[in-house]
Amino acid sequence: MAGKKIHIFDTTLRDGEQVPGCKLNHTQKMICARKLEELGVDVLEAGFPVSSPGDFKAVEDISKEIRKPIICGLSRAVKEDIKVAAEALQYAARPRIHTGIGTSPIHIEHKLRTTQEKIIEKAVGAVKYAKSFVEDVEFYAEDAGRTDNVYLTQVIQAVIDAGATVVNIPDTTGYCLPQEYADKIKYLVENVKGIENVTISAHCHNDLGMATANSISGMTNGITQIECTMNGIGERAGNTSLEEVAMIIKQRFEGQYYTDINSKLLTSTSKLISDSMCMVVQPNKAIVGENAFAHSSGIHQDGIIKFRENYEIIDPLEVGLTQSEIVLTARSGRAAVAYKAKEIGYNLSKDELDIVYKEFIVLADKMKQVSIDELGNLLKTTLAAVA
Ligand code: KIV
Ligand code: ZN
Repeated sequence: MAGKKIHIFDTTLRDGEQVPGCKLNHTQKMICARKLEELGVDVLEAGFPVSSPGDFKAVEDISKEIRKPIICGLSRAVKEDIKVAAEALQYAARPRIHTGIGTSPIHIEHKLRTTQEKIIEKAVGAVKYAKSFVEDVEFYAEDAGRTDNVYLTQVIQAVIDAGATVVNIPDTTGYCLPQEYADKIKYLVENVKGIENVTISAHCHNDLGMATANSISGMTNGITQIECTMNGIGERAGNTSLEEVAMIIKQRFEGQYYTDINSKLLTSTSKLISDSMCMVVQPNKAIVGENAFAHSSGIHQDGIIKFRENYEIIDPLEVGLTQSEIVLTARSGRAAVAYKAKEIGYNLSKDELDIVYKEFIVLADKMKQVSIDELGNLLKTTLAAVA
């Protein structure tokens, strides 16, 4: 593959699973972990081991079985959390401890009630302690999106000097605009000594609908790992969507960046996560929504039938679908009716199509959508009546 590799850090089973109602049982977690491995994620954040015995066991069992990706366990910058994470990860082929602390003025004053100096001490202490268990330690500067760049530089410098192998710059509250996030990453790249020797990670939330845009603008400014979830699930408005990142990189950055995601598995992975977590994917969701490759207006249907690329920038086969969909509604034109009729064996002449179309529009006006079976019945009865 040409270009720079962007590592995909999947946090569906941690940030995604902490959403109310998304909790998975142990078996479901194992099945989802296997699917994410097959999809090609580089890092799998399997849980927050200190948070519950169930999460501990999930991280432990995923560490035992899933061998290709790095297995990561979350912790706060607290000794007990780090020790428990290390225990849960002990069987992993490549374990990573993900530890961190809030760095924004709001978090320091109103959540942690401490000082900037003490935060740096705690951050360094947490990284050094985690390094006593594993080589690969990722540090997150929680709420980095609202952290002043000069102070953030001091924090990131200190944790790299303490041995962090990955520095995560989360926009925890989904506050940044793409240019601000890009400038933040650029500033760190230009001002932290040794940052070129570690992985720089984006972990963006979607409170303003900017998570994917921020991750991509971070990537073009030095980010080499993107933290994301299938279907964009996660706290509040969710995280960066894995499927969006994978397809943006594939479609728009060919030769510059690449991921190891097997895009043909995106649709099936999305379905598995959605079904297991009982979390419906909105129909208009990019890449994996039910309507992402469906065409319903007459003008678009005519264009798609003539040449798919008139209205599609992604080949549906690339994301694991078998074809685009022409949906029959009252907005559909003759071209779409003829096309769908042909799919079920009717090669209509112009006159036959005129007759069928007249009846079709009457039916379609009464319904949201005309199914292929309903079209079949209509063809049968209408054509029998004119014979
Ligand atoms: O959003 C966030 O800051 C997080 C951290 C724990 C990485 O989820
Ligand atoms: Zn998060």
